[in-house]
Amino acid sequence: MQAAPRSRPCGRTSGKPSAERLRVLPPGKVKDAGAKYGGEFREIRKNRVIVRGIPGEHKKRVVKEQETGMQAGQETGIRAVQKFREKAEVLQNTRIAKGIYDLRLKTKQIAAAAKPGQFVSVYSNDHSRLLPRPISICGADPESGELRLVFRVAGRGTEEFSRLSAGDRVDLTGPLGNGFPESVLKGQAGKTVFLIGGGIGIPPMVQLARTLAAGDDEKGAPRLISVLGFRDELFLVDDLKAYSEVVIATEDGSCGTKGNVLDAIRGRNLKADVICACGPTPMLRALRVYAQETGAECWLSLEEKMACGIGACLSCVCKSTDIDEHSRVRNKRVCTEGPVFNSIDIEL
Ligand SMILES: Cc1cc2nc3c(=O)[nH]c(=O)nc-3n(C[C@H](O)[C@H](O)[C@H](O)COP(=O)(O)OP(=O)(O)OC[C@H]3O[C@@H](n4cnc5c(N)ncnc54)[C@H](O)[C@@H]3O)c2cc1C
Ligand code: FES
Repeated sequence: MQAAPRSRPCGRTSGKPSAERLRVLPPGKVKDAGAKYGGEFREIRKNRVIVRGIPGEHKKRVVKEQETGMQAGQETGIRAVQKFREKAEVLQNTRIAKGIYDLRLKTKQIAAAAKPGQFVSVYSNDHSRLLPRPISICGADPESGELRLVFRVAGRGTEEFSRLSAGDRVDLTGPLGNGFPESVLKGQAGKTVFLIGGGIGIPPMVQLARTLAAGDDEKGAPRLISVLGFRDELFLVDDLKAYSEVVIATEDGSCGTKGNVLDAIRGRNLKADVICACGPTPMLRALRVYAQETGAECWLSLEEKMACGIGACLSCVCKSTDIDEHSRVRNKRVCTEGPVFNSIDIEL
């Protein structure tokens, strides 16, 4: 018989958790081994990730995975991605709109490994805040190693990042998450792709637009239409104009269509073969329905509150339409199986 669900919201039921065992794993190596084998993320203490109750029968495999690095995703069909922990140097940090900052960092490996739609975990230098903050990759230059993050000040972590200045150092882990799949990044010549960003969901669209605009070698690039929704003040519009047509919607009607991104799309009678979107959940929910109505392929980048960012704590799960083979529940971790999902694979 399977063990009863533990206290985590997804109620993992597989394996036999050895209830009181505490395993202390170094954060760079815990990967998603704890969650994969029914362990439960507890906390980060003195720079070590504490996972409780890894089932006894999986202990050796977990230890092996800790030693060999990121192998955990491979068996479950999740793309195994290489990630790095770095102390990046701040090149520049500029306020580009009210409460919005454009942070440029010099990285050794993260920028070269990054794919559109992935994110980094940014650590606070204030040790009272141990958990990192997930921020999407807005730009990554593999040659120079420059990584661009654009973020809104939401609370104490991002407020601290807004005070970073040239020469400061900041701890990062990344690139994290799956990013947009190769099937979206390649073979879109002749098609129309919507890049839809709502508010602080706009930054990842810049890196995606840049990649799609480069196109496939012989076949060329798709028609790209960025549809951007703002509350009021605009940002990153010129960056997207460099790679795509741009359509704007503002809540107050101060620029473009008065209303939301779907009002702008419908108002202009625009049609797409593929939709890529990031933004608030109500916007993504509406786009999922719109994609079903129009028959467009639709990829949504979700935002969930995160703790570990590496698949161990299950704080970021979203509802999936299929049943996870390991846990036997309809859940996916946004930080590892996402943040980008095909809209037909998730419930919103
Ligand atoms: C995959 C992903 C990509 C993101 N990309 C961006 C981006 O490019 N630009 C941007 O401005 N914001 C982005 N966010 C949201 C950003 O992570 C939060 O605004 C930030 O963590 C808030 O931290 P805080 O300390 O300022 O706020 P607080 O509210 O003080 O945070 C407290 C805790 O809650 C977590 N938390 C709070 N809000 C969120 C949230 N929305 N998502 C995840 N964790 C949260 C924090 O990480 C922290 O552990 C992204 C979130 C996710 C999940
Ligand atoms: S599993 Fe910990 S944040 Fe996703």
